[in-house]
Amino acid sequence: MKTLTVEAADIAWGNDAPVLRGVTVDARPGEILAITGTSGAGKTTLLSAMAGLLAPVAGKVLVDGEPLADRDHAVSLNVVLIPQDNGLAAILTAAENISVAVIATGGTPAEARRRTAEALDPLGLSGQANQLIEELSGGQQQRTAIARGLALRGDVLLADEITSELDAANRQKVLELLRSEATRGAAVVFATHDPEAAAACDRELHLAEGEAVWARR
Ligand SMILES: Nc1ncnc2c1ncn2[C@@H]1O[C@H](COP(=O)(O)OP(=O)(O)O)[C@@H](O)[C@H]1O
Ligand SMILES: [Mg+2]
Repeated sequence: MKTLTVEAADIAWGNDAPVLRGVTVDARPGEILAITGTSGAGKTTLLSAMAGLLAPVAGKVLVDGEPLADRDHAVSLNVVLIPQDNGLAAILTAAENISVAVIATGGTPAEARRRTAEALDPLGLSGQANQLIEELSGGQQQRTAIARGLALRGDVLLADEITSELDAANRQKVLELLRSEATRGAAVVFATHDPEAAAACDRELHLAEGEAVWARR
């Protein structure tokens, strides 16, 4: 299992001024790290850097000491991202979205079938496996994206606002699933603006006005 480290990073989009400055944080195996802050505070920006999608303009993002080159490199190091906008292919079914991702990361078709069923079941989506994404509700789509992320069994799991469209029971279930991922040994990072969800995490880094401060460490 792996540790993801952000070291004194300034993170910017294109040539814009940095959204975040001087961020230092590590995500450790077995723990859930909450990233909190109001809308626009930079949660997605920080997770994008952690996922290898956005190279910091200063400082470093490392996985077990190895600097992340880009998203492909991060994928090869088993850094899984569940994006805020769910990132599902609308014209594929829920099951296909998951199977394709498992196969793309080296799983056999048989493994993909098994892991897809195992991931959909705890999210209450077994009955939706063969429905197209565009036929699912927002909450069902969000749960499908979570199932896909879980099926990939990341060493690092980055979850961006993944409970925003869920009712209380599903929110609780998802928190339990993130906890299982940590117990399995993954380093889990959970961006959320929900203080209750953050309270269920082990540590909390709070983003405000371009800076990151520990709310709990
Ligand atoms: N893909 C992007 N391209 C350019 N700017 C972005 C992008 N995503 C976010 N930003 C900018 O980064 C800032 C922080 O946004 P974001 O990281 O999405 O905050 P949060 O996830 O906490 O709501 C905002 O000013 C936003 O406009
Ligand atoms: Mg966001």
